[in-house]
Amino acid sequence: MSPSHNKPLVLANWKMNLSVRQSVDLARRVTRSLSRTTKIDLVLCPTFPALPGVAEVVKRKSIALGAQDVFWKAAGPYTGEVSPAVLRELGVKYVIVGHSERRQYLKETDIVVQQKTLAALAQGLIPVLCVGETFAERQAGQKDVVIMRQVTAALKGVTLPSGLGLVVAYEPVWVIGSGQAVEPREALHTAQVIRQVLIDIFPPSVIERQVRLIYGGSVDTTNIAAFVRQPPLSGVLVGGASLSAKQFIDLVRQL
Ligand code: PGA
Repeated sequence: MSPSHNKPLVLANWKMNLSVRQSVDLARRVTRSLSRTTKIDLVLCPTFPALPGVAEVVKRKSIALGAQDVFWKAAGPYTGEVSPAVLRELGVKYVIVGHSERRQYLKETDIVVQQKTLAALAQGLIPVLCVGETFAERQAGQKDVVIMRQVTAALKGVTLPSGLGLVVAYEPVWVIGSGQAVEPREALHTAQVIRQVLIDIFPPSVIERQVRLIYGGSVDTTNIAAFVRQPPLSGVLVGGASLSAKQFIDLVRQL
């Protein structure tokens, strides 16, 4: 990930909101307007069945493809799952792991998230590791502890030989989809906490060149600038505001 490491990273997480046709259509509209954007690393994360169609649209363009999840085994009898190798085959570069919706609805644990992170890296995919506290954890004064636990657990045994990349996304669970992002200085504080954990795991040069920290949770046109180019934060994971071509294009143009 090094050549473009200084550029802001903007990932669109479409979740399970769009049909295949809608995904391809949105990808087309976004690509038409933004494919000449060289200042930003842009990533579209459609639902699994839309990956081939969106891959076709972004092919040879400066927009990358991301998946919303991955299984932790390379291949085998795992009904319904999708392997990192298959994602690679489809042209996927980034993969979201540990999103709070999966932790909540699919009961993904820190160990599952760690296994997925390792499996993604083994295929040369860039994991977008999502961490964040719930409202109850926050009210209990546990925010930093929860973040530190999630990052430490997910990165247990992870090394980053050159050529591999990692993104850690701070996503306060209670803010996702709420329309109200956290204060930028709070996101920055949490990014510092994450960075501190990373310092205990990776050499400084690896963090510098191969790891990026981003923010996610109700990012929109009015607040995106505050979360990007604010070291150690250098990007955003966008849900709701990435579902309309116009809104997403406006959002990226704020940068
Ligand atoms: P949101 O979602 O932008 O709709 O809050 C962010 C996310 O879940 O990644």
